[in-house]
Amino acid sequence: MTRLNKDFLWGGALAAHQFEGGVINTSKGYSVADVMTAGSAGRPRRITDGVIEGEYYPNHMGIDFYSHYKEDIALLAELGFRCFRTSIAWSRIFPKGIEKYPNEEGLQFYDDVFDELLKYNIEPVITLSHFEMPYCLAKEYGGFLNRKTIDCFIKFARTCFERYKGKVKYWMTFNEINNQMNYRNDIFGWTNSGVHFEEYENPEKAMYQCAHYELVASALAVKTGHEINPEFQIGNMIAMVPVYPYSCRPADMVLQVQAMHDKWFFCDVQCRGHYPNYAKKMFERKGYELDITQEDLEILKEGCVDYIGLSYYMSNTVDSTACRDISKAVDSTNSHSVKNPFIHFSDWGWGIDPEGLRYALNMMYERYEKPLFIVENGFGAADYMKPDGTVEDQYRIEYLRAHIKEMKKAVLEDGVALLGYTVWGCIDCVSFTTGEMEKRYGLIYVDRDNEGRGTYKRSKKQSFEWFKKVIASDGEII
Ligand code: BG6
Repeated sequence: MTRLNKDFLWGGALAAHQFEGGVINTSKGYSVADVMTAGSAGRPRRITDGVIEGEYYPNHMGIDFYSHYKEDIALLAELGFRCFRTSIAWSRIFPKGIEKYPNEEGLQFYDDVFDELLKYNIEPVITLSHFEMPYCLAKEYGGFLNRKTIDCFIKFARTCFERYKGKVKYWMTFNEINNQMNYRNDIFGWTNSGVHFEEYENPEKAMYQCAHYELVASALAVKTGHEINPEFQIGNMIAMVPVYPYSCRPADMVLQVQAMHDKWFFCDVQCRGHYPNYAKKMFERKGYELDITQEDLEILKEGCVDYIGLSYYMSNTVDSTACRDISKAVDSTNSHSVKNPFIHFSDWGWGIDPEGLRYALNMMYERYEKPLFIVENGFGAADYMKPDGTVEDQYRIEYLRAHIKEMKKAVLEDGVALLGYTVWGCIDCVSFTTGEMEKRYGLIYVDRDNEGRGTYKRSKKQSFEWFKKVIASDGEII
């Protein structure tokens, strides 16, 4: 058998802050992503103190899905998508995060989007928070370092669950909640939790406190969602970057296990409902006395996720004989990380490793025995539109093909339970890490450049027709 089941959720993924636009002249409040300037491969995005006149914020326009949503969804339907993953911009519903009542204009926008998807039988798969905390919560409350932010998030989650309970079945709480483990890189703490960790005396400790409040918020959201509609499937969302030992040297293997603890930490709590022993020992060893109450521990237990959403782009490697300054390490979370000589890298330095996807799926399924959902995988490249209007992105087809092949092996040969696969950035959008438009992932090209100039016209790339056939054949023709 070389086909996947008919109910396998093939589709694409985007995130509100990267493609919606509709930030200026609407009732939406600013989010943490709205104060991030544009950067590039070697030049990080800056986070400004509010929206400053004269600065350029690429997310404010995104690709203007806000006005193009009908046209865009019609294209997704033409691709044969069975699902579409997007997020609800928290600050469109609660512009500051602290209001008592939600913003009806924002709620109506998502009603319109979900109705349009359902018209084509496209299942909405919704992330509650994909780097979109209201800016005011970050600024006034200190983001998730403040326990009060849990209540604000639950108010938002409850509002969404109640409003869309008849339209959305698949939810996720926080996108790539584990990014903030990289607390040295400002963008991750800021977008995950609205916190600049480096401002704290002990940034790592601040990160774990923040993580705890956010894990409680996630568990409470799962619990609340199930009370509102027991049919809901509520998942977490993890950036899965498996770590390899550089060699079969025993010390490399032990190092790999330790490096993987950092990858598993959030997922372990969200799937098992309690802190793993390696984390408890680490808190003890480092003397981290966190604000964790008995009631919090009960909530974690009661709010285990139904499935695991994951993004997969690359793998990393650790070598016990190499130890360099963390700022120079290949993966800035691990001073032992080195380049894997057996794989190639994209122009943005992301290691291309399709077999790593099969490995990751196996590891995750064996560890938790919960259904998995690949909600992001894709290839960022500087596509070129020829004068005749075509975009030949054969390299993207090759990347996706290789990953889908490995995914199929994981399902058909290894027995991994997988709900679906969504191509990241199915329509070109603003890059998260660099803020560039020209790091493109789409099957659909958008005429917009890094500075926001262009007609915003949508065109099908070569990969569009290819992926359409993949879906129509249930993954048999790749
Ligand atoms: C994931 C995020 O980390 O990777 C997305 O969930 C992001 O928001 C995607 O866009 C690709 O990263 P980038 O930086 O290439 O856009």
